[in-house]
Amino acid sequence: MVDTDADKETIAILGGTGDLGTGLAIRWSKAGYKIVIGSRTLEKAQNAVANLQAISPETPADAMVNADAAVAGDIIVLTVPAEHQLSTLAGVKSALTGKILIDVTVPLVPPKVGTVQLPQEGSAGKRAQDLLGESVMVVTAFQNIAAHLLQQDVQIECDVLVAGNKKVARDKVI
Ligand SMILES: NC(=O)c1ccc[n+]([C@@H]2O[C@H](COP(=O)([O-])OP(=O)(O)OC[C@H]3O[C@@H](n4cnc5c(N)ncnc54)[C@H](OP(=O)(O)O)[C@@H]3O)[C@@H](O)[C@H]2O)c1
Repeated sequence: MVDTDADKETIAILGGTGDLGTGLAIRWSKAGYKIVIGSRTLEKAQNAVANLQAISPETPADAMVNADAAVAGDIIVLTVPAEHQLSTLAGVKSALTGKILIDVTVPLVPPKVGTVQLPQEGSAGKRAQDLLGESVMVVTAFQNIAAHLLQQDVQIECDVLVAGNKKVARDKVI
């Protein structure tokens, strides 16, 4: 059975005002998914939604602070810099129970942002899963897609590595 737009999940993007969140929001909005842009401030989220609606006027989009966005979304996406990954997740943890969290975090830590610095847990995704516990289905993806390409109307020729310890969640993200 083919999904209609009405059947499609609401995707809430925490830190969705940033470079990668904007690119993903544009792509998913064009694909007919209802988007919630999450931010630390409602005003910043509202500005991002205004930009998104100018690009995809047919697709509904909402602006919320991250905590409300995590409640509103069926699927939650985390797009904040690595150093704010855990603090952002800790602030929304209770709203994520039973949901898929797509984590795009690349562990780049200032000032050496040119080199991946793996956390002691082994990966940024494992670190998120450890914090959130097994009631949240963490899936990592999109770490290799450049935000500026997502924001352009171009075909991106590459694979996306999708990882996580629950097959049902990996399949949904794929
Ligand atoms: N940029 C890329 O091409 C790219 C590609 C692949 C993966 N990634 C990964 O995607 C993630 C986001 O990258 P990005 O380039 O989109 O980052 P970014 O634009 O620098 O920041 C994204 C958002 O993070 C939020 N943020 C900033 N400081 C914060 C803090 N102290 N606490 C909580 N939230 C904070 C901000 O949202 P508000 O101010 O609205 O709260 C900001 O708009 C990173 O983990 C990065 O490794 C990026």
